[in-house]
Amino acid sequence: RTVYLNGDYIPEEEAQVSIFDRGFVMGDAVYEVTCVLDGKLTDFEGHMARLERSLRELQITCDISRDEWLAIHRKLLELNGLTLGGVYLQVSRGNAGDRDFHFPPAGTPPTVVLYTQEHPDMLDGPKVTKGVRVISVPDLRWHRRDIKTVQLLWASIAKMTAEQAGKDDAWFVEDGFVTEGSSNNCYIVKGDTIITRPLSNDILHGITRASLLKILAERQMKVEERPFTIEDAQGADEAFYTSASSFVMPIVEVDGVTLGDGMPGPVAQRLREIYIDEAR
Ligand code: PDD
Repeated sequence: RTVYLNGDYIPEEEAQVSIFDRGFVMGDAVYEVTCVLDGKLTDFEGHMARLERSLRELQITCDISRDEWLAIHRKLLELNGLTLGGVYLQVSRGNAGDRDFHFPPAGTPPTVVLYTQEHPDMLDGPKVTKGVRVISVPDLRWHRRDIKTVQLLWASIAKMTAEQAGKDDAWFVEDGFVTEGSSNNCYIVKGDTIITRPLSNDILHGITRASLLKILAERQMKVEERPFTIEDAQGADEAFYTSASSFVMPIVEVDGVTLGDGMPGPVAQRLREIYIDEAR
């Protein structure tokens, strides 16, 4: 792969970052993942708006403009011939020169990394056709989940816990309610109503979530933005999750309880089709 590092397009083997980089030492970095479908970037403006907000919230200075971000994304797609997958983007507070809890001096350039990732089975892999089984785990993350930081240790442990239990993914639960999935926003379907947790600092403000809510509003479908419990989900007709790397993904099992007939539900499948059609 040809990757982008601080202004240069170079082979991935040559892309090197300091051992004193704040991203490496302190987890002091933010990221975005933008999906690529038929060689086209999906929800690009939304991802860049969230990136700018994440940077602002953490006071990381990065003066790359939206047009420049777009040019970098397009160049990487072209150099790597990517048509189906995603572009990963990360901005850290930069090389601090040593380990130090204090931020490096103003003017320290951020470390900017982007690379493409191929996801050949994004459209029709086994999760799509069979649906996903989730387990719940307590939400032990920090309380600014609205900022998309690279501090993904608990998400990583949650996914491994699910895998070790023979399942596909984990849902985080806090104060009795589901916050979100380990790397996605979650929804349940009861009758003709789609229920999802409202936005706050407790969850990431998913770009796919925003696009899906727009699709639902345009079609006058019923949406309730309210927290729900594991028991609510187990008693629901359907469940699904959304993220840039999965669009709309049907969920067929929650903590060992099968939803409906154990196959992806009609609402999730229909919304997935609409989402992909609109992205194309
Ligand atoms: N994850 N919630 C969490 C905790 C996430 O990590 C993600 C995205 C989402 C969905 O956001 P969006 O629709 O903007 O992708 C919700 C990305 C895909 C990842 O970490 O790979």
